[in-house]
Amino acid sequence: MSGFPTIIYEKRGSLAYVTLNRPQFLNAYNIQMRDDLYQVLGAIKDDSEVRVAILKGAGEKAFCAGADLTEFLTAPSAALHGYVLGSGIEMALFCDIRIASDDTRFGLPEVGLGIIPAAGGTQTLPRVVGQGKALEMLLTNPWVSGEEAYRVGLVNKVVPRDELLQTAEAMARQIASYDPNAVRAAKQAALRGLNLTLAKGIDLEKRLASEVVLAAGQGS
Ligand code: COA
Repeated sequence: MSGFPTIIYEKRGSLAYVTLNRPQFLNAYNIQMRDDLYQVLGAIKDDSEVRVAILKGAGEKAFCAGADLTEFLTAPSAALHGYVLGSGIEMALFCDIRIASDDTRFGLPEVGLGIIPAAGGTQTLPRVVGQGKALEMLLTNPWVSGEEAYRVGLVNKVVPRDELLQTAEAMARQIASYDPNAVRAAKQAALRGLNLTLAKGIDLEKRLASEVVLAAGQGS
């Protein structure tokens, strides 16, 4: 699959690469990109060959400079480098693992523009960095460097720019080499468990653990 106006989609073995491709506008997220991403992510979901997808931005300056300001308010609604603003952060927050290069600058300009993040950011950010840091970012929009993002848990790793993609690929390959049932169950247990009581989470873990053992026994 290829030929999207705002996205480059490539598949190499079990890895998929989704590249935001509007470098002349710092990969600002517009309606076309939303529609392209919807199609690409749907196709990845239905493609059992793809085990891990890497989301990245084209060009030197930015992963994504947020919502396209020329389409401001007209829409309903990782490897990271350069500017990662607004919906750029929000997209990254929906990824399982975030890797930033040391030149990354994160920011959430929405409140200063008289709106609020509306691609999940008000919900995902506090879950990832905690309430205090999330509110500081939402309400005062400090520039957050790659190093600081690492310190507060917004990203899993920070690496030199020229090692960004290879670091993401190494992690992706490692995950892709594992039993898909185990990967899926570990993700489900960790993510769904966040919204459960501890007791219910332990029950969920128990059920998923036996399903994984059963599937392994059946060789599926
Ligand atoms: N929407 C639409 N176009 C954008 C954009 C956005 N969010 N961010 C950058 N661009 C465009 C610029 O208009 C410029 O286009 P031009 O060359 O046709 O004038 C091009 O991308 C390069 O950006 P520029 O501002 O020249 O780069 P810079 O290095 O001086 O500044 C930023 C980088 C990220 C600090 C600055 O572009 C910026 O503040 N962007 C807006 C961020 C924002 O508020 N996003 C909305 C979040 S809700």
